[in-house]
Amino acid sequence: MEGNRLKKAVIAGVGAATPGRVLTNYDFEKMVETSDEWIVTRTGIRERHVVENGMVGTDLALEASRQALREAELSAEKLDLILLGTVTPDFIVPSSACILQKKLGATQAAAMDVVAGCTGFIYGLATANAFIQSGMYQNILVIGVEVLSKLTDYKDRNTCVLFGDAAGAVVVEAAPPDERRGILSTFLAADGSLANLLHVPIGGTVEPLTLANFENRGQYIKMAGNEVFKSAVREMGEAAALALEKAGCSSDDLALLIPHQANIRIIEATAKRVGLPMEKVYVNIDKYGNTSSASVPLALWEARQTGRVKEGDLVLMVAFGAGFTWGSVLVRL
Ligand code: ACO
Repeated sequence: MEGNRLKKAVIAGVGAATPGRVLTNYDFEKMVETSDEWIVTRTGIRERHVVENGMVGTDLALEASRQALREAELSAEKLDLILLGTVTPDFIVPSSACILQKKLGATQAAAMDVVAGCTGFIYGLATANAFIQSGMYQNILVIGVEVLSKLTDYKDRNTCVLFGDAAGAVVVEAAPPDERRGILSTFLAADGSLANLLHVPIGGTVEPLTLANFENRGQYIKMAGNEVFKSAVREMGEAAALALEKAGCSSDDLALLIPHQANIRIIEATAKRVGLPMEKVYVNIDKYGNTSSASVPLALWEARQTGRVKEGDLVLMVAFGAGFTWGSVLVRL
């Protein structure tokens, strides 16, 4: 796909949003049998942001998107497509992408959600790249947004300490094939045979929500943490290595690795797999926990804001999530 006659997909703007309410590990000590020490040692998480009542995912997505559009100096009416990665949509029907299209006033844009667990943003960005390379679209908004606090069982210590809410967005623009900046390679994969290791059992059409099953708390995320952990370590490492290989690059060329922030131990294992020192790996899991689709664009936004990366730098983004899904995008900023 990445022949040199194809257009380049350049990241022209980045935005992010996090809600104001913060839950610390000490708050969880009062809710379930856990400790700050356990959570920090096993996950790397200290705090996570969660929405107040009344705030929905597309509110966070709107803030992040406006920021990305401002930076790209693009008006919403110029967007051709909105790709919104989420597992926590405002509604099952219609898509959050359509709700955001209306909120933004992106009247010319097609819009769809991308449901790929924590890999939603990476799947969206790889899809945007393909639309741009083919010449079909010029300007695409890619978002990762989650309000995982709505799917979290705050009585289950195995999962409740892990998740947070956030949004991140990028504007991707078409550029001539010889442009130095832009996406250099993408890699996507999935294995549906492992779906049950990380899922929300009820509320879909297999088992719609009823009063009886509601009491069994099946409307919340269930996760076989340890099995998910092992797959995440293996597949994040593979995805990172493959995107580099496809582009003919090595880890020495990288300015920064931005991995999905699910667990500090998974992040360290991924860095080791591609032979990168931790100084070249972006970590903010301590502040936000696992924000699923939002975690990679939020980290990209922070890395740019804080000067960890600048224009011209080579950055590798990699994620793993429910499905299972995994994937990576290598980009020159
Ligand atoms: N506080 C104290 N103890 C706990 C807690 C807690 N919050 N949670 C679990 N434990 C206990 C368990 O009950 C278990 O106790 P037991 O031995 O008496 O049964 C013990 O700790 C060990 O449990 P494990 O699950 O083996 O712990 P592990 O080291 O694997 O850490 C964790 C658990 C943090 C969930 C880890 O497995 C993990 O990060 N998994 C990957 C998560 C992930 O990557 N998700 C990706 C996608 S998410 C998405 O797509 C929405």
